[in-house]
This record gives sequence, C-alpha cells and structure tokens, in this order.
Amino acid sequence: MNIAIVGATGNVGRKTLEVLEKKELEIDNLYLVASSRSAGIKIKFRGKEYEVEELDSFDFSKAKIIFFAAGGKISEKFAEKASKNSLVIDNSSFFRMDPDVPLIVPQVNSEDLDSIKKNIIANPNCSTAQLVIALKPLHDLFVIKRVVVSTYQSVSGGGKAPMDELIEQTKFVLDGKKIVSKNFTKQIAFNAIPHIDKFSDSGYTKEELKMTNETKKILDDKIDLTATCVRLPISISHAESVNIQFEKPFSLEKVRSALENFEGCKVIDERVDGGYATPLDAEGKNETFISRIREDKTIKNGLNLWIVSDNLLRGAALNAVEIAETLIKNNYYGK
Ligand SMILES: NC(=O)c1ccc[n+]([C@@H]2O[C@H](COP(=O)([O-])OP(=O)(O)OC[C@H]3O[C@@H](n4cnc5c(N)ncnc54)[C@H](OP(=O)(O)O)[C@@H]3O)[C@@H](O)[C@H]2O)c1
Repeated sequence: MNIAIVGATGNVGRKTLEVLEKKELEIDNLYLVASSRSAGIKIKFRGKEYEVEELDSFDFSKAKIIFFAAGGKISEKFAEKASKNSLVIDNSSFFRMDPDVPLIVPQVNSEDLDSIKKNIIANPNCSTAQLVIALKPLHDLFVIKRVVVSTYQSVSGGGKAPMDELIEQTKFVLDGKKIVSKNFTKQIAFNAIPHIDKFSDSGYTKEELKMTNETKKILDDKIDLTATCVRLPISISHAESVNIQFEKPFSLEKVRSALENFEGCKVIDERVDGGYATPLDAEGKNETFISRIREDKTIKNGLNLWIVSDNLLRGAALNAVEIAETLIKNNYYGK
C-alpha cells in the first residue's frame, strides 16, 4: 500500500502519521507532501526518515490512498486531479456537501461508502464527527427530533499557527505585554470567542452551519440542529453541551447502556466531584467521552449531555485513517 499525506507537516497531517504509526496497516511507500516552506524537512515514521516533498511537483499516481490535510483551497485545486488514479480522503470542508462525495464516520454511516462516485471521501468537521458518534445510538433507539448544541472548541481546531499563538499570547499576558491577535478576531488567552469561521447572511457562522448540514448528511436529514460555536483557550479537544429532544420517550438507563455499547463512545458519568471528562482527559484518546447525562424536564423527551473528544483524532486523523481501513477491508481501491 502506497500512501501520501498532503499537509503532512500540519496538525492533522502529523496526527495522521501518529495514528498510522500505531496501526497494523502495511505501508510500502509513504509520501509526505506540503508547501515549499517545508519541502526538504525530514519526518520520522516507524524508525525511518522521510523527506517532505513539494505539492506543486508531486506525482499523485505514486500513491493509492492520499490524505488531504492542507485546507479547502488546496483540496479544491488538487483533489480531483489526485483522485484520477488514487483514493482521496479529504479533511477539508470543500467536498463535504457534494452529493457525489460520501461524508463518513465509519461507525455511523459506512454504508454511504457504497455511493462513491469520484474517488473522493470527505471527513467531517471535528465538532460534527464527535457529535454524531454520540447521537447515532440514541437516534436508532429514540429518534432525534431536535438538537441544540453549544461548543467549547480548542485552538488546535484552527491549525498549528493558532496553537502557537495561544502559548505566545498567554506568556504575553503574564508578562504584561501588549497583544496583537494574528489568528483570532480578539485576544484568545484568558477569553472566549463566539466566532469560528466566517459569518453567513443568517448570522450563523460557517462552523455552526457545518454542524447542522453535516449532521443531516451523516445521520438523518430530518434532524433539526442549531449550534453556537465558541473558541476557548484550550490547546486540544473540543467539548459540547448538547440538548436533545427525542420523538420517543427514553430512560436514562437505556441511554447510558446504548452509549456504553457503541464503538468509539465511552461514558464517564458519576455525579461526584470530577466524575466527568474534560478536554485534557480526552487529549490523545480515541474515544468520544460522554458525561453529565441527565433528563431535561423543561421539554418533552428531553436529554442533556456533555460530549468531549480529541478534535485532531476523532475530528480528523483517526476518522480519516478509519475510513481508509474500512475501504481496504472492503477491498475498495477506487474506480
Ligand atoms: N485541526 C482540526 O481539528 C481539524 C479537524 C478536521 C478537519 N480539519 C481540516 O484539516 C485541514 C488541515 O488542518 P490543520 O489543522 O492540520 O492545519 P495546519 O496545522 O495549519 O496545517 C496545514 C498544512 O497544510 C500545508 N499547506 C498549507 N498551504 C499549502 C500549500 N500552498 N501547498 C501545500 N501545502 C500547504 C502546510 O504545509 P507547510 O508546513 O508547508 O506550511 C501544513 O502541512 C484543514 O482543511 C482543516 O479545516 C482540521
């Protein structure tokens, strides 16, 4: 198996390497691709050093599976070309709502892979991926009517540069120095910014609309979802406060048991000090953690949850690699 990672030097690219390193997947040739800024630098993988190649001159036909993790503009420009002879798994938002491109969380909707039309598979937005993995077993049992979600998202969701800036800003605040935000619309250190991605005419941000549209595409078009997405000074992992209204009545025991038994979910929910998962607890872990499970008695069939997951893993690299594993398991290597 020959694999390429476009954007190999970024947050998601490096995480993809970490995930592949731990998997048993046999890799004959690995190609690491990025911009001219990092061409020539060396990255270690399974004990061997690989030199980063420049995207503009990379021959895509060398790889059977190509992970794209370099942003929407790069996917727009290069993914279709790469998909002529290879399978593209794209982390950007560019193809997610394309009806000919399946948007996949393998545990939730791997059957949608049957509808591949152009050798491109989209990986969902990080906030959506962790949400649908917790919603799926509950939707199967009690039928979700409406979801209200507020997110508490880490800076790593914006890439490596915002992560570095959070550290720099924090030091500056502690040293009493003046801050000029470069990757955020306001100071992020010791703050909360209710704005991720661009504003749409409706007043919702694109990040919020992605959560609505992607949940419908992955899980069920009939689910109504409204979101407020907030960036916090957290390095890694996104948390979500989720209010769900079901069509059918439920019991907390059945909710808990459905979540406990669903692949990829882990319930940590004790009603004592510290009996819940936080972003730091989720960092580096593959599971989506579910805590604070309780009934919302202000609406009919209402439930409240707290969901936390490592955005670079479930929200990106791990999910992308699991898509590749699913394709390989089904002997699907493209049209
Ligand atoms: N972070 C998350 O939680 C997350 C979750 C889901 C999806 N995604 C998506 O995944 C993608 C990557 O995000 P990230 O967080 O990894 O970003 P990042 O840390 O900023 O990394 C960007 C990567 O893209 C490369 N790149 C940038 N411009 C390029 C160009 N002109 N030609 C070739 N390579 C170029 C960079 O290479 P250089 O080192 O050469 O600059 C770097 O390897 C984005 O589409 C993002 O929306 C991210």
